Amino acid sequence: MNAHAEPSSAADGSRPTTPDPTTPDPTNPALSIDDITVGYGGVPAVRGLSASVRAGEILALLGPNGAGKTTTLLAAIGALGLMSGTVSALGDPIDRRIERNARRGVTLVPDTRGVFHRLSVSDNLRLAKRRNGTDLDTVYQYFPKLKTMRGRRCGNLSGGEQQMLALAKALLASPKVLLIDELSLGLSPVAVQDLLPRLRSIADEHQMAVVLVEQHIDLALGIADSAIVLHHGRVALSAPARELRNHRDKVEAAYFGRTVEDLAS
Ligand SMILES: Nc1ncnc2c1ncn2[C@@H]1O[C@H](COP(=O)(O)OP(=O)(O)OP(=O)(O)O)[C@@H](O)[C@H]1O
Ligand SMILES: [Mg+2]
Repeated sequence: MNAHAEPSSAADGSRPTTPDPTTPDPTNPALSIDDITVGYGGVPAVRGLSASVRAGEILALLGPNGAGKTTTLLAAIGALGLMSGTVSALGDPIDRRIERNARRGVTLVPDTRGVFHRLSVSDNLRLAKRRNGTDLDTVYQYFPKLKTMRGRRCGNLSGGEQQMLALAKALLASPKVLLIDELSLGLSPVAVQDLLPRLRSIADEHQMAVVLVEQHIDLALGIADSAIVLHHGRVALSAPARELRNHRDKVEAAYFGRTVEDLAS
């Protein structure tokens, strides 16, 4: 992907480099969601949500069906207007200009996968290629299976292979903030076990901030740095992922909008 900017070398007399405004600042969140309320037709679906993700971090966004996970991702890319609150990415507010937000490096992998079924794997990838983005060979290194299948029509790929392709397509744009809606929809835990660790290494290697909506709770907590459980559009639980790995009871209670103490009483 993009090479990291060389550190400024003004001290040795050379010209200082101008920082790339879209390069994530490690001291600030790459994505910052502050107290947003967002919904449809004036009816809130998500209320008072705050979250932040730094470069290289993965936030798992969990919760039952209808909790507001997709709505949150759509708000984060600017596809939905906010009723209140703010979203900013890479130091700038996210507005409704979704193409501009995407060009700045804020990319959504939708739960519909977004692959063209009639086209081949390589044509799908070539369509997603950006001028200054990651090259195809790098993406094939992450997903060697796609290389062996590059001539196959996507409609003939398995669900897991299509998800790999969806992720590969997103990576071609060299995203800095990657939002993933149910990457593993319809996949077996084995296929998810294969995909999620790759996502962890990609996030580490390219210092990408990731928000991962995922139904496989244990697998998501296994690779995430932090987690939020939404329930009926509100944050029921927000904690470091390592704290929740051994406290599934807290996560399960939050799926019901409760705390463990509530459930015990
Ligand atoms: N286009 C829409 N118009 C009206 N209401 C909507 C629309 N999309 C979603 N909703 C409602 O907003 C709420 C949150 O939906 P959302 O899709 O964000 O949930 P989710 O957590 O992604 O659920 P799932 O796990 O089923 O994908 C739900 O009550 C849903 O019915
Ligand atoms: Mg959803």
